[in-house]
Amino acid sequence: MRLDKFVSDAAALTRSESRKAIKSNRVTVDGTVAKDVAMHIPENASVFLDGEEIFYKKFVYIMLNKPQGYVSATEDKKQKTVLELLDPSYARYQLFPVGRLDIDTEGFLLLTNDGETAHNLLSPNKNFGKTYFLRLEKDISDEEMNLLEKGVDIGDCVTKEAKAKRISSNEIELTITEGKFHQIKRMAKAVGNNVVYLKRLSYGELYLDKKLEIGEYRPLSDKETQYLYNVHKKK
Ligand code: URA
Repeated sequence: MRLDKFVSDAAALTRSESRKAIKSNRVTVDGTVAKDVAMHIPENASVFLDGEEIFYKKFVYIMLNKPQGYVSATEDKKQKTVLELLDPSYARYQLFPVGRLDIDTEGFLLLTNDGETAHNLLSPNKNFGKTYFLRLEKDISDEEMNLLEKGVDIGDCVTKEAKAKRISSNEIELTITEGKFHQIKRMAKAVGNNVVYLKRLSYGELYLDKKLEIGEYRPLSDKETQYLYNVHKKK
């Protein structure tokens, strides 16, 4: 890879900022100041910018606490998209949401440019659970929670086994492994109830960071990214 591309991607600079940094002798490759913006950077080279090592990132993973009022899409003619919540410097990565949250659903939305990992997290065959917090219009009984766990008819299919945990008389957490259109809302309807508030809490064991306010985001840590890779390797 060319040095200017490497520096631009690794340090989140525009290509012209990257070239300027190189021409101002701020970049070293394997200990030597690099002046040629087109220099080929071999794998395993150590590249430093202003004395700090920088690393090329092929894939980016962002944990977003999605607010209501945004659609889970990369573009939309009428509505604001979740990508508009990100700093414009992320545009270069061509991120997309891993699965959809409805416009009125809040919570954990993973954004990435890693198509294979996204596919693995969404594939029903991988049995990868996503947990939601639901506030319901009416109280929910233990029997109704059992029905949700066993699977309910939501019109075009019977849902796969799920896990339900009571939080209060009308609030539960529900873990599902599929991602049918409006699945949680349709499951609630199937037991004679309605969702009045919905928030995704986790992808598997990867939980929404409680420090993220609604609309805030952060990159996944290396440990969290590794978790995503390991999950689908095991299946
Ligand atoms: N199920 C729904 O009904 N809506 C969502 O946003 C996510 C899951």
